Amino acid sequence: MRSVTREAPAKLNLTLDILRRRPDGYHDLRMVMQAISLSDTVTVAETAGEEITVRTDRTDLPGGRDNIAWKAADIFFRTVGIPRHGLAITLKKRIPAQAGMAGGSTDGAVVLKILRELYRPELPDTVLEEMAAAVGSDVPFCVRGGTALAEGRGEILTPLPPLPDCWITLCKPDFGLSTPALFGRVQVEKLLRRPDYEAMERALAAGDLGAVAGQMWNVFEEVLTPSEAEEIRWIKGKLLTHGALNAVMTGSGPTVFGLFQKEAAACQAAEALKKRYSQVFTARPVFS
Ligand code: C5P
Repeated sequence: MRSVTREAPAKLNLTLDILRRRPDGYHDLRMVMQAISLSDTVTVAETAGEEITVRTDRTDLPGGRDNIAWKAADIFFRTVGIPRHGLAITLKKRIPAQAGMAGGSTDGAVVLKILRELYRPELPDTVLEEMAAAVGSDVPFCVRGGTALAEGRGEILTPLPPLPDCWITLCKPDFGLSTPALFGRVQVEKLLRRPDYEAMERALAAGDLGAVAGQMWNVFEEVLTPSEAEEIRWIKGKLLTHGALNAVMTGSGPTVFGLFQKEAAACQAAEALKKRYSQVFTARPVFS
C-alpha cells in the first residue's frame, strides 16, 4: 500500500474582472492568478477495498463525500475508467476556508495530481485540467500553479511571466462572504472601475513589481456593504502604512493581501494586523 504527501498552495487574484453573466448561471471572468507558499498538506494513502475517506484537522470543514478532495478522487476514477482503489485522504489545513484563496480547490487539485502519479503517470496535463474543471472553477489553475491568466469560469488558462519575487502579507477578517451571493450582487454594466489586463501583462513582462502592484484590482470590492468595505479599508490601510506597494481583496474575499519588497516590512505589517485578527499570514509567490 502506497502513500503520497504533497503541498497544496493557495492562490491569490492579482486582478479579478467579471465580464458577463452566462446563461448557465456562471460568470465569464478575467483574472490574473498567482500561487503562493501558504499551503495545505495533502496525503493520499491506499487502503484495502474501494472506499474513499477524507479527514481534515478542522471541525468546521466537511469530511467525506462533501469535501472537494473526495469529489476530485471520484471524478478521477470515473474519467480514467479504472476500478476505484480504496483511499484515505488526509488534509492538514493551513489555508483559511471561504477566504478567496482556493483552499478547497487546491486540495482537490493535489488529489488529482497524486492519483495521476499513482495510477496514470502518462495522463497529459490537458486531460487532468479537464477533470479539474469538472471539480470546480478554480481547480484547473490550482493544478497548473505559477502565474496565469484565467478566463471563462476560471478554467481557460494562459501562462504569464512570473510575479517578481516579493513578500506577501494576508489577513482574513472574521466575516464570511458567500461566493454565489457576492456574484449575485454584481451588475456588470454598473461597475465603475475595471482592472487593465493589458497593463498588468506588460508589468509582469517587464518584471516590474511596483507596476504590477499598481495594476492590482478586484471588482468585487465595489459590491461590498458599507461595513464590509470599512473593514477591508482598515486592513488595506495597515498594510499600506507598513510599506505595502498596494493591497487588494483576493477572489470573492474577504481576505486582503499586500505586496512588499522587503521581508521585514511584510512581517511588521503582519504583527500589526495580528493585534486585531487571528488569521494573518506571510507568504511568497511559488512556481511549480
Ligand atoms: O465552480 P464553483 O463551485 O467553484 O463555483 C461556486 C459558485 O460561484 C457557482 O455556483 C456560481 O454561483 C459562482 N460562480 C460564478 N461564476 C464563476 C465561478 C463561480 O457565478 N465563473
